[in-house]
Amino acid sequence: SNKPRTTIVIFGATGDLAKRKLFPSIYNLYKKGQLSEEFAVVGVARRPWTNETIRDTVRQSLQGNDHAAEELEEFCSHFYYHPFDVTSKSSYHELNELLTRLESNYHIPGNRIFYMAMAPEFFGTIAVNLKTEGLTDTAGWTRLVIEKPFGRDYPSAYELNEEIRQAFDEDQIYRIDHYLGKEMVQNIEVIRFANAIFEPLWNNRYISNIQITSSETLGVEDRGGYYETSGALRDMVQNHMLQMVSLLAMDPPIRLTTNEIRSEKIKVLRALRPVTGDKVHKYFVRGQYGPGTVNGKEVDGYRNEDKVDPQSHTETFVAGKLLIDNHRWAGVPFYIRTGKRMGIKSTKIVVQFKELPMNLYFDKNDVMHPNLLIIHIQPDEGISLVLNGKKIGPTGETIPVQLDYSNDSVDGVNTPEAYERLLYDCMLGDATNFAHWDELELSWKYVDAISKVWETLPAQFPNYPSGSMGPEESDRLLSADGFHWWPLD
Ligand code: BG6
Repeated sequence: SNKPRTTIVIFGATGDLAKRKLFPSIYNLYKKGQLSEEFAVVGVARRPWTNETIRDTVRQSLQGNDHAAEELEEFCSHFYYHPFDVTSKSSYHELNELLTRLESNYHIPGNRIFYMAMAPEFFGTIAVNLKTEGLTDTAGWTRLVIEKPFGRDYPSAYELNEEIRQAFDEDQIYRIDHYLGKEMVQNIEVIRFANAIFEPLWNNRYISNIQITSSETLGVEDRGGYYETSGALRDMVQNHMLQMVSLLAMDPPIRLTTNEIRSEKIKVLRALRPVTGDKVHKYFVRGQYGPGTVNGKEVDGYRNEDKVDPQSHTETFVAGKLLIDNHRWAGVPFYIRTGKRMGIKSTKIVVQFKELPMNLYFDKNDVMHPNLLIIHIQPDEGISLVLNGKKIGPTGETIPVQLDYSNDSVDGVNTPEAYERLLYDCMLGDATNFAHWDELELSWKYVDAISKVWETLPAQFPNYPSGSMGPEESDRLLSADGFHWWPLD
């Protein structure tokens, strides 16, 4: 059935992710009828909360949502809380008893989703204990959903994976990359492979370069502690940015199955030209924000943020040029950039097409405009196509015309939150929009080579003011090839 009956066990239920993303997503699924009315959510964490505390938190997290009071109460009554000590066996036994009791109350056939939304150092221990203490031994299916960070480099990711694999098979493991839950990220495949006007042009004969930007206006906020061990390369490039590169560059899958799609994506990562040694400085740029003005507000530099070393060498911005050594893409640069405290919050992909071999039609400044396909991922969702047309009138000038399609203007439906889709996919057993271990292995190895070089050479930080589009070197990365970043607004 497409209304799976399951218990969702959230480790780290007192945390920020649960409140901001998971509770609202579960609620939306419930409201849309995608969740069976017979479900249970069990919050697990160290704090001595009660069922009442978690239900209050769920209510708070749904403020601003329109809902009828009884509906909300009915929904909240499915939430339970179990105070827990990660290393104590009896904690697991009690949890198992609670789950068994709820399964019988709600007629849930032993299906359990274990959602890891807590400090990553416990992921492995919990997974192993779930197995040894019998919580994965049920009449139904059991799945492990695991949040980032999945390691901080290849060796730690490998170790974590080995631990988890003692308890769960690869096909029971759902590694979250929330970008894969975004409407327009999922749309990349459809735009590419369902359109006769794009697929034949989607290669190095017709595309000159592809630009992927994910810029944020927020700073590191209260995550300084985590971020100091991470930086933008690990936090955004290893996962979200490389996932978008794979989707843009993959060959068409022969079937729309998880394995076929994944294997095409993995081939892209295998074809990425490694950036090592001296090449790192040529192909990658790192930045760290200094003080500045964002959205009219003055803000501090990264080194003044909470829990950040005042001499920190952690990068909050990365730009890079990626090359994919295969027949389709040889010679086409994929430029990526991502950063915090930039001038605009925007995730966009710009596909720039090559110029025609002979074009006699210029604009008034004698410029030729390349065709662009722009995929707007967020905050707007849609596609734009930039073409050339004749300016009305006698001058014979050419002007760029932009065709815009926006998701919002279509029946005003709010697109579902990424987490909502991903949770639903997991309930249905569809792992397509989750990261496979092979993808993690390849992407970690790719970024490790870059971190290794950066770690040995101190950076000149801060090197971009808050509110800008990153350091100047990021512009030079493209100008050296005769390109420039296309503006995002
Ligand atoms: C997360 C990163 O994975 O993605 C955060 O850890 C970042 O640092 C976030 O802010 C960006 O997500 P989105 O959906 O706002 O682009």
